[in-house]
Amino acid sequence: READKRTKLLEINKEAAKYFYKLLRSPRGEKAYAYFRKRELSDETMRKFGLGYSDQYSDDLYRYLRHVGYDDALLKESGLVSIDEVRGGHDKFWNRAMFPIMDVHNRVIGFGGRVMGEGEPKYLNSPETKIFDKSRNLYGLNIARTTRKPQLLLCEGYMDVIALHQAGFDNAVASLGTSLTSGHASLLKRYTKEVYLTYDSDGAGVKAALRAIPILKEVGIITKVINMQPYKDPDEFIKALGAEEYQKRIDQAENSFLFEIRMLEQNYDMNDPESKTAFYNETARRLLAFPEELERNNYIQAVADKYRIGFEDLRKLVNNLAMAGS
Ligand code: CTP
Ligand code: MN
Ligand code: MN
Ligand code: MN
Ligand code: MN
Repeated sequence: READKRTKLLEINKEAAKYFYKLLRSPRGEKAYAYFRKRELSDETMRKFGLGYSDQYSDDLYRYLRHVGYDDALLKESGLVSIDEVRGGHDKFWNRAMFPIMDVHNRVIGFGGRVMGEGEPKYLNSPETKIFDKSRNLYGLNIARTTRKPQLLLCEGYMDVIALHQAGFDNAVASLGTSLTSGHASLLKRYTKEVYLTYDSDGAGVKAALRAIPILKEVGIITKVINMQPYKDPDEFIKALGAEEYQKRIDQAENSFLFEIRMLEQNYDMNDPESKTAFYNETARRLLAFPEELERNNYIQAVADKYRIGFEDLRKLVNNLAMAGS
């Protein structure tokens, strides 16, 4: 019964994806097609990601799916339509550029829909359903996992994944409008030991990166952080500077601990002795997280060199904290 229902919900999502896909390529989809072109996506890329369009009629998908044979209860559960007792069925996605979301088995489990231009919300996503668990799926992983590259690139958005793949970085994935969860981390761990974070370079992106690093570390994934300054996200970076420059940023990606310390330092005034001391103390406390002596010393060395404190002074600070704690 439950399995039957899941199968049906997957069928409905697949039907909807095909419906949106065809609309994009019909005269009614011209505006959305122009939107994707403006974002510099090729036909091949649009096809690869199954991009589509939900048109301006508010119940055409609903009527189509009813016609195919699905009942109201099931359609409601798919999250693609809402059923109003008086007004009947209504499409959730209305006049949006559509991004089908696939699981690792290439099954459509939900959608993201973007307004074409300005408007709120910028992205609308399918609600969680029996087949759509946002904290256990990653956009683009169905493709990225088949590349068998040793690292995965983790970014924020649908368009980032697509722009990266189009530029040859087909190992890029993104979470689905939520922050990274331990479910995502376990999923990633099945395919890679190393993740390069390429979140937006705004405050929200930095915060998201600082939250993601320990979650990835928890499952044993090594993390590096890509710097995209002065651009806002990988999509904008690649548009402005191209794939070769992006590859250079991958090669220069920062060790995640050193990234954390660099962000930490911004909360302190290094010209003020008291604040500076507090920074070293907090840094020493974090260095305690490395249990092995050689590794810990390597990090102490790296921090000492960068933040102008003697290696021995910093090591003493760490050791004193270690003894105070034990
Ligand atoms: N997101 C969302 N709902 C919103 C805004 C964002 O679900 N209202 C999710 C989407 O998955 C989006 C990601 O968060 O792709 C990153 O958001 P943002 O950086 O604001 O958008 P971009 O991906 O940069 O989108 P675009 O380039 O299309 O403007
Ligand atoms: Mn519609
Ligand atoms: Mn963002
Ligand atoms: Mn963007
Ligand atoms: Mn962005």
